[in-house]
Amino acid sequence: MNDQDEKKIKNICCIGAGYVGGPSMAVLAEKCLDTVVTVVDISQERINKWNDDNLENLPVYEPGLKEIISNRRNKNLFFSNNISKAIKEADMIFISVNTPTKLEGFGAGFASDLTWIESSTREIAKYAEGHTIIIEKSTVPVKTARIIETILETNKNVENCGERTFSVLSSPEFLAEGSAIKDLRYPDRILIGGNDDLGINALKFIYKKWIPEEKILVTNLWSSELSKLVANAFLAQRISSINSISALCEVTGARIDEISNSIGSDNRIGSKFLKPGPAFGGSCFQKDILNLVYLCRYYGLDEVANYWENIITLNIWQRKRITKLIVEKLFNTVNLKKIVILGFSYKPNTNDTRESAAIYICKDLIDNGAKLLIHDPQVSPEQISEDLGINESHDLDQETKGSWIFIKDIQKAANQSDAIVILTEWNSYKTLNWTSITTYMRKPSWIFDTRSVLEYQNIKDHHINYWGIGQGFDI
Ligand code: NAD
Ligand code: UGA
Repeated sequence: MNDQDEKKIKNICCIGAGYVGGPSMAVLAEKCLDTVVTVVDISQERINKWNDDNLENLPVYEPGLKEIISNRRNKNLFFSNNISKAIKEADMIFISVNTPTKLEGFGAGFASDLTWIESSTREIAKYAEGHTIIIEKSTVPVKTARIIETILETNKNVENCGERTFSVLSSPEFLAEGSAIKDLRYPDRILIGGNDDLGINALKFIYKKWIPEEKILVTNLWSSELSKLVANAFLAQRISSINSISALCEVTGARIDEISNSIGSDNRIGSKFLKPGPAFGGSCFQKDILNLVYLCRYYGLDEVANYWENIITLNIWQRKRITKLIVEKLFNTVNLKKIVILGFSYKPNTNDTRESAAIYICKDLIDNGAKLLIHDPQVSPEQISEDLGINESHDLDQETKGSWIFIKDIQKAANQSDAIVILTEWNSYKTLNWTSITTYMRKPSWIFDTRSVLEYQNIKDHHINYWGIGQGFDI
């Protein structure tokens, strides 16, 4: 590939049609109208959902996503299970497959499972033609690019495929769910790690269609791979830090919102990621920190590993302490008590529930005998059932043990309930009619606000007990 050719990226393929592959390629197709973008996946079900005429059935919910899919799908954006064809035609391939924590074998519980990185690389090795630029978009341990290069290099000579060459780059994804489209259109920065200038320039050429050049940072391969893990570790560290202080506020009379505001006003600290909550969730923070911990131990840096591991320890403690205090405040038993749960996704504006604190808190409450009435604007009852590992009850009133049902009408569900627990800060919860919702709760009734959704001033006349995270006293 020469300087002219770098401008001729006509076909892009993305392997992995998940929360990253789908939205990121949708924005790429929106910005590069002359490029054909094909997103492939081994899951027929996922691809069918991406191709569903009814845009409500897309597998990923993100504000703004439906509109792009409706504008670009089957024009220059395609979703397909024909992986070999898409790879053959591609000048550039993004690998955007899952890299979860290993569940068994060496490194179980910490290391990344690279099964899907390897399988997608082997697909590329089998089908790619001519020169192909491969980009790691998945979050991976440092040195993964070398594994990809080795597989490609050692499988380069395939009969009837002509001369094949590869350039391997790293360009990790920094989007956050719920704001993915905004993050992809206006990223803070783009990272490109690599050694091959032509490959780097070709990728830059694509990004420059909508991202100012000064935001495109070029580093070596290993810095790029490691930066992604470190960025997530630093973000999660801030949440564990503020959550630890929320507990201290509750016993001292200080207020966490005032603390966040006062420390966040210091430019050096900054105001973002200082909101306490029931523990961070999502598919990545925990797995990426565990991966970092594993890498540190692998290189003999035990103190460094222990330092980062504590972020996870604190996170697990935070969600446990919330369940415990709910039980304590309800006279030390929630057995057969009705508790309304508001929010099940790990954050608002997404239907993703992976590692959501709600899963753990709900399970614990059910184990303690509670009857939960669970509401979420985007998460389906089927998903909740899968996450909890417990089927939805047919008739909550008849249950004699811990159980749950999905609810749409919060007002009706609150009738004769003992408590409402807010676990996700969906905007719609802020504007509920709290006066009428709380009127028919069984007294003494409680609101547990783990997301600082409610202003105490607005509900203090409702004759209800209120617990707000990081608020110094039971008001
Ligand atoms: P996901 O599980 O939603 O999607 C991954 C997809 O890859 C799945 O649909 C799976 O079927 C497919 N796949 C796996 N192996 C394949 C193969 N060999 N051929 C074709 N398809 C294959 O995962 P995700 O949330 O999109 O995350 C993908 C990567 O991006 C992970 O490494 C993650 O850490 C990283 N990341 C995720 C986010 C996020 O917000 N979810 C943000 C930044 C980075
Ligand atoms: C996070 C990072 O923000 C992204 O940059 C990164 O690309 C992504 O992980 C990834 O690698 O997967 P995401 O998990 O989608 O994105 O969402 P965040 O907004 O970071 O929130 C994560 C969790 O932290 C949520 O449960 C959220 O409620 C919680 N959180 C966040 C807080 O409790 N307090 C805060 O101040 C911020």
